[in-house]
Amino acid sequence: MCLRFPLYHPLHYYFSLRPITITINISSPASLLLSHFYSFLSPSSSFFMAPPAAMEETAPTINLLSNINDGNNAASHISRVTVVGSGNWGSVAAKLIASNTLMLASFHDEVRMWVFEEILPTGQKLTEVINQTNENVKYLPGIKLGKNVVADPDLDNAVRDANMLVFVTPHQFMEGICKRLVGKLKDDVVAISLIKGMEVKMEGPHMISTLISEQLRVNCCVLMGANIANEIAVEKFSEATVGYRENREVAEKWVQLFSTPYFVVTPVQDVEGVELCGTLKNVVALAAGFVDGLEMGNNTKAAIMRIGLREMRAFSKLLFSSVKDSTFFESCGVADLITTCLGGRNRRVAEAFAKNGGKRSFDELEAEMLQGQKLQGVSTAREVYEVLSHRGWLELFPLFATVHEISVGRLPPSAIVEYSEHKPNCSLVEGSAQYF
Ligand SMILES: NC(=O)c1ccc[n+]([C@@H]2O[C@H](COP(=O)([O-])OP(=O)(O)OC[C@H]3O[C@@H](n4cnc5c(N)ncnc54)[C@H](O)[C@@H]3O)[C@@H](O)[C@H]2O)c1
Repeated sequence: MCLRFPLYHPLHYYFSLRPITITINISSPASLLLSHFYSFLSPSSSFFMAPPAAMEETAPTINLLSNINDGNNAASHISRVTVVGSGNWGSVAAKLIASNTLMLASFHDEVRMWVFEEILPTGQKLTEVINQTNENVKYLPGIKLGKNVVADPDLDNAVRDANMLVFVTPHQFMEGICKRLVGKLKDDVVAISLIKGMEVKMEGPHMISTLISEQLRVNCCVLMGANIANEIAVEKFSEATVGYRENREVAEKWVQLFSTPYFVVTPVQDVEGVELCGTLKNVVALAAGFVDGLEMGNNTKAAIMRIGLREMRAFSKLLFSSVKDSTFFESCGVADLITTCLGGRNRRVAEAFAKNGGKRSFDELEAEMLQGQKLQGVSTAREVYEVLSHRGWLELFPLFATVHEISVGRLPPSAIVEYSEHKPNCSLVEGSAQYF
């Protein structure tokens, strides 16, 4: 039996070269040598295995949005990038992008970063300190962002010349930000959302990428993945997924902008699937945190992750029939679920919540433990719960429903295992059984 190993070098990203492919017989001594070669590689080394891009499905999805700039222009000329948001992940995104704009001729070197202005305990403005030290001392201390990152407290000014906008703020601020940006953008702007979360309105759930597309009339992709910001900040190897709707060329431009040897990005034609994975895993992470706080062990946590993944898939497919099963096997799916349930901030604060027997609120713990960073899981659990009760789906999603009931104090943390083991009542929604 033969295996083919594509190898990438950083230059492959910068010049869109084809990978070098090595073909070996797995029973040959060469396979042994190659396995030593791979185990020898560190994540920051120049060569590494290629992402499984071939796993992507290419079936078309339905375009729900009409009359928007489809981004055809942005795919072809020199682009200016602005990052809207400057928290922990926002700062890391700016660093990744800034390292690439310096090297890629199709982008202007400078990367603007809109900063929600804050006064630091020293009395200085956060933007001034970022521009003087090249470091976001509040949200990403100790990491240089790149000298071509310019912090700007003025939103209008930050986006004025941009034709590629990267949105990366906590989701609760996005509606206000979009309102402020209406009519302020260039005609050829395309956007990408790195935001995990959704909005629930009278007419139903609204993904953040849809909010951006509809309010700003722009093509909006999403980027999600197993990406704990602090690990990427120190250039540890990880993967991410870009979800796009129709325009593959624009998706590839985003892939080019974000990809580095330690950050491997794969495009998938499934915006809703990618975005819902990133959003819903934060609810499962709270459940994992409860289990950790109650010291229930790894088997229980694995069970919670499995049930959580099943509910993530069923919820996504019930909301959007275009969502693909294969998306759940990308970095945005199972990989992000695992990393968030092992190491993320939602898990950590939920663990503290359970350790305190649910007697200290999430708001209190967030303020004490996160120093200005925001929890997304609690608000997402509430939003998911609203959708479930509005649509009569509560009995279909015992884990999601229980996480919300625990986080608002209606059930004790120990309820996470009592309720999660209930079988979903699929007879409630016609055709839903196929998704579980
Ligand atoms: N941190 C991670 O590891 C990570 C990884 C992947 C995705 N994300 C997602 O990225 C998004 C942004 O998270 P983050 O980690 O960059 O932020 P964060 O939680 O570290 O920081 C909060 C940010 O919100 C800003 N802010 C506070 N009040 C505001 C207001 N009224 N209006 C606008 N902004 C305000 C703060 O200045 C700060 O920049 C979230 O959706 C998150 O789920 C985070």
